[in-house]
Amino acid sequence: MMHGSDKRYLDNTAPFFSAGLIIRQKEPKNLEAPFDRIDSYLTPTELFYIRSHFPTPKLDRASYQLRIDGAVSHPLTLSYEDLRNMRSETRVATLECAGNGRVFLVPQVQGAQWELGAVSNAEWTGVPLRALLERAGLAEDACEIVFEGADRGIPKEEPHPPDPISYVWSLPLAKALQPEVLVAYAMNGRDLAPDHGFPVRAIVPGHYGMASVKWLTRIEAVREPFHGYWQTTDYAYWSSSDGKPVRRALGEMQLKSQIARPRVYETVAPNRIYTVCGAAWAGDTDVTEVAVSTDGGQTWAEAEFLDPVRRHAWRRWKFDWLTPKKPGQYTLLARAKDADSMLQPDEHDRNYGVYVINHSLPIEVFIEGSEGP
Ligand code: MTE
Repeated sequence: MMHGSDKRYLDNTAPFFSAGLIIRQKEPKNLEAPFDRIDSYLTPTELFYIRSHFPTPKLDRASYQLRIDGAVSHPLTLSYEDLRNMRSETRVATLECAGNGRVFLVPQVQGAQWELGAVSNAEWTGVPLRALLERAGLAEDACEIVFEGADRGIPKEEPHPPDPISYVWSLPLAKALQPEVLVAYAMNGRDLAPDHGFPVRAIVPGHYGMASVKWLTRIEAVREPFHGYWQTTDYAYWSSSDGKPVRRALGEMQLKSQIARPRVYETVAPNRIYTVCGAAWAGDTDVTEVAVSTDGGQTWAEAEFLDPVRRHAWRRWKFDWLTPKKPGQYTLLARAKDADSMLQPDEHDRNYGVYVINHSLPIEVFIEGSEGP
């Protein structure tokens, strides 16, 4: 942090030389970003988390084709060049995996044990989905848009189908037609990396990462809601219809703020100014405030934003904490507020099962002089 020669400030970035991804599963690749190490607004592509259900398919630009069909009047097949020649847009969007923060759930639950780094922020370039659907002549009675990826396999989560399936996700039409939804071919100004969907992927800003289908090869407009494996068995939650429980597909990211530094169980010097920092994001709304507590939620103080409001992108924030003189264990929390004055919850909603872990996550730290963990 930039505090010149003021000796009271602790340099909480110093002990590290370089950063890398953290393995949660080697193959298929599930790697988390080092959330405590990312100081830039855009996550460098090398440090952007990877969440893949199947091995990365090998696709090349020359033979790549994108099929657009179903409830359209002019089914299309586009080459990579065709897409590159269309009018493009560049947008910043935060992707968060719906399972981010799962390791904080007590008792422990099944699934990849993500800590804080299944979230990253990048700049994406591509063709608005809406333009492609217009070109294909979208039927008036279409209700959803189904994205299909080129990767295939048998999913891990039970109950799974007996034969290999591809990764498929459908978007409600209202969201699919929003200008921010892209069929993207570039990330942070370069071609997509193979693990992030090369050559072409969907980017659905504001929705959990599962909607941003990588290695996109087909876009199908449908007239009936699609009930595929991923959005019924896997990325779904308990809702209710007429008092009866029903499963619904996850969608919008929920309001969340995370503390990047200090890290869990970090030891901090007493009576100094420690810059607590982190990031906050939301789905289809804006984060307007972040408050920090250093006493387990008894008192709160407002943090300062480092980034402006930009819909669908995170806002980093910081808070200068005068650390206690008294050694001991302290619990830090961050809590975001959105444009509708909704607060980040303080408990996990069990209807979401092993997903949507957006409550304020406790970060326990030790003030030096105390006995550590
Ligand atoms: N697309 C395909 N084809 N296959 C996948 O396994 N994983 C989804 C989504 N798109 C997935 C996919 C999930 S769960 C997430 S969180 C994001 O991709 C992660 O994108 P990233 O690996 O570029 O970070």
